[in-house]
Amino acid sequence: MFKRFTTSSIDHSLRNRLKARSLTASSRSEQTARTRFESVARRTLRGEGVLVTGCSSGIGRAVALHLAAQGFTVFAAVRKAHDADALRQLGDPNLIPVCPLDLTHLTDIPPIVDFVSQEMQRRGKDGLYAIVNNAGGGSIAPIELMEIDKFRTEAETRLIGPVALLQAFLPLIRRAHGRLVWIVTPGLMPLPYLSSIHAYDFAVNCLARTVQLELAPWDIPSIQIRCGGIQTAAPAKTARELEESFKNWPKERFELYAASLEKELAEQAKFDKKRTDPREVAKVVQKALCASHPKRRYQIGYMAGVAALAEALPQSLLDWAMSRR
Ligand SMILES: NC(=O)c1ccc[n+]([C@@H]2O[C@H](COP(=O)([O-])OP(=O)(O)OC[C@H]3O[C@@H](n4cnc5c(N)ncnc54)[C@H](OP(=O)(O)O)[C@@H]3O)[C@@H](O)[C@H]2O)c1
Repeated sequence: MFKRFTTSSIDHSLRNRLKARSLTASSRSEQTARTRFESVARRTLRGEGVLVTGCSSGIGRAVALHLAAQGFTVFAAVRKAHDADALRQLGDPNLIPVCPLDLTHLTDIPPIVDFVSQEMQRRGKDGLYAIVNNAGGGSIAPIELMEIDKFRTEAETRLIGPVALLQAFLPLIRRAHGRLVWIVTPGLMPLPYLSSIHAYDFAVNCLARTVQLELAPWDIPSIQIRCGGIQTAAPAKTARELEESFKNWPKERFELYAASLEKELAEQAKFDKKRTDPREVAKVVQKALCASHPKRRYQIGYMAGVAALAEALPQSLLDWAMSRR
């Protein structure tokens, strides 16, 4: 008698075969994952390429110098030739100035992508390991008196330029199984007269977290380095600009804010005395680049912890607290 295959026996044998195949596939994928993990864990980061924006001063410069000293190949982006010369004169072969990169001029980007790609190939490496999005400025002003061109420039520097940079470099970053780093302010909190800095921090926070989700299939972490008060050229620059603005703002409208601005500036002066050395930020960036499982957020600098705590409050409560300052 012919052996009758019942539906259930067919089901059974099919299930067994599928199970066997899926076991093979899963053990293969486990093995691939393991091999990949081991190769990432074993891979030395020595010589891997990192592009840092805004390296003429402050945090960017400190990060670039530190990473180069640790053996990364650092592409230190600046806007001006004399800043590139100053970096070159340091004589570190791991520190390669790239110039000009003005994030408001998107045409600066393609030649830099070509240069970075060729230089990494020449050094026997595939792709670019990381971008550290650092460049930024911003000014102090009530929104009513803010110069719209400056506000627009900051949007280009902090948002549009970095997105264009990301688009241009992602193929290289994918090849290197790399990561993205964003230098930002920790707390998502409204501070009077600082909106041209903090409004973009809100937006960068959103960009960094969104890109983290979008790039998850390729395991490209997007990491925020949330800096409190850091001792850089920025406070002096903004103070100089503010003095200029005092001369340019219409007197009758400036007078509406004068007392409140004076109070904020006095607070700011106290804050400025306690800022943290930017080399501390550089060490945290190194940690974020080297960790096999990096955190999504690192905090560093004066008051960074307090600001992050404030962010955990309900918005209405935080708004109330800020209005009582
Ligand atoms: N200092 C702090 O307490 C603090 C705290 C939290 C976050 N941050 C953030 O950290 C970043 C660096 O600030 P910093 O304090 O180190 O200030 P900084 O010393 O003034 O450095 C800012 C850098 O950004 C560059 N830059 C400005 N606009 C640019 C543009 N359109 N294209 C390309 N580069 C541009 C500047 O180049 P030029 O010299 O050519 O102008 C400079 O190299 C900023 O994004 C800032 O918001 C700072």
